[in-house]
Amino acid sequence: MNVLRVVNAVAIGLALAAVTQADDQAPVAKKASRETVTSGGWSFQLPLGLEAASAFIPENNPMTDEKIALGKLLYFDPRWSKDKSISCASCHNPYHGFTDPAPTSKGVGFKLGGRNSPTVINRLFSDKQFWDGRAADLEEQAHGPLINPVEMAMHSHDDVVTEVKKVKGYAPLFEKAFGSKEINMTRIAQAIAAYERTVVSGNSSFDRYMAGDKDAMSASAVRGMGLFNGKANCKTCHAAFNFTDESYHNLGVGADKPKPDQGRYEQTKVEADKGAFKTPTLRNVAETAPYMHDGSEATLKQVIELYNRGGVKNAYLSKEIKPLNLTAQEVDDLVQFMQALSGEVNNAEPPKELPR
Ligand code: HEC
Ligand code: HEC
Repeated sequence: MNVLRVVNAVAIGLALAAVTQADDQAPVAKKASRETVTSGGWSFQLPLGLEAASAFIPENNPMTDEKIALGKLLYFDPRWSKDKSISCASCHNPYHGFTDPAPTSKGVGFKLGGRNSPTVINRLFSDKQFWDGRAADLEEQAHGPLINPVEMAMHSHDDVVTEVKKVKGYAPLFEKAFGSKEINMTRIAQAIAAYERTVVSGNSSFDRYMAGDKDAMSASAVRGMGLFNGKANCKTCHAAFNFTDESYHNLGVGADKPKPDQGRYEQTKVEADKGAFKTPTLRNVAETAPYMHDGSEATLKQVIELYNRGGVKNAYLSKEIKPLNLTAQEVDDLVQFMQALSGEVNNAEPPKELPR
């Protein structure tokens, strides 16, 4: 707790020295096992279990504390939506693991989108974004929702810039973050992306277990981990420390609907990509129900039962998806393991007030 709170402070500009201090008090987090991400003169000690080598920060958008602070305000500010009611946090809500508790999200005017809001947690470790990977990076991604008619529904990016300019308090913050008062869409997206890259989660029970604290996970969760890596074949796709291979697979979710979402195929037009979606991270997954690209599974247990049945049959089903013959106990063990992947999320607290 203590460690993460201090790491949180780093992102808003307090001295790094404080981290080292708190680290000494941490019961399990061995200094050597916490890695540091750097970007220009900025550095940040990741929570236990996360790997700095996998961080993706574009060259042209180096991290600074000022940019992160600005991006956080823009992220939580609803004034860049058509009726000033919806912010990024409406659908990527810190109190719901940076997702939305609805199967698919409602934007401006309660218009319903077709996909479930994925989490913003640990986006630092991915370049491509969206269920179908259509945005090359977080900067590109941030342009989308502002003008999406079922999300923030602004008429154009120029209108977004006009609204940000109307709030006098933002200009000095752009100057601090970018060296001049100019406000444009590129800068808005860069600041939001920089903030999102600090929304990371590690130091879960699983991470502490792996760092040597054998009491950190229950016996059931430990059995679940064994199944995850073995009989249940989860690790094939939910690979490495962020529990994703950053690739696209068809589990058949939604394949039985009259007009199935074609997912990755819409981007690549490759037949084999029909109905394939990005493997989501499983970090903090216990907080992000409902699940899957269409929000069709309400609980983790239901997700695992879907895998146990071998997904939903269709012509493009991944070869890795087969009936698993898991017992009821084994299903529960896997759920327990998923629950052990929740850690405290860095820089998640909404700002106390917004610029005027
Ligand atoms: C009305 C709900 C809504 C709002 C508002 C919204 N999003 Fe999203 N967001 C979604 C949905 C739904 C998706 C998935 C869409 C898809 O994959 O086609 C998504 C996808 C994303 C992703 C990709 C995550 C991943 O794992 O691929 C990021 C990052 C993101 N949004 C950030 C933002 C930011 C930043 C804002 C504000 C500028 C924002 N969102 C506003 C609903 C919303
Ligand atoms: C072939 C690759 C693959 C395998 C094997 C696999 N997954 Fe997945 N997982 C995915 C993909 C892709 C999605 C999203 C699918 C969709 O929405 O259509 C997903 C979604 C999930 C989700 C929902 C996450 C969310 O945020 O909505 C959970 C939980 C999950 N998987 C757990 C598991 C478990 C547990 C196993 C082992 C029993 C497993 N997965 C095996 C690729 C895989």
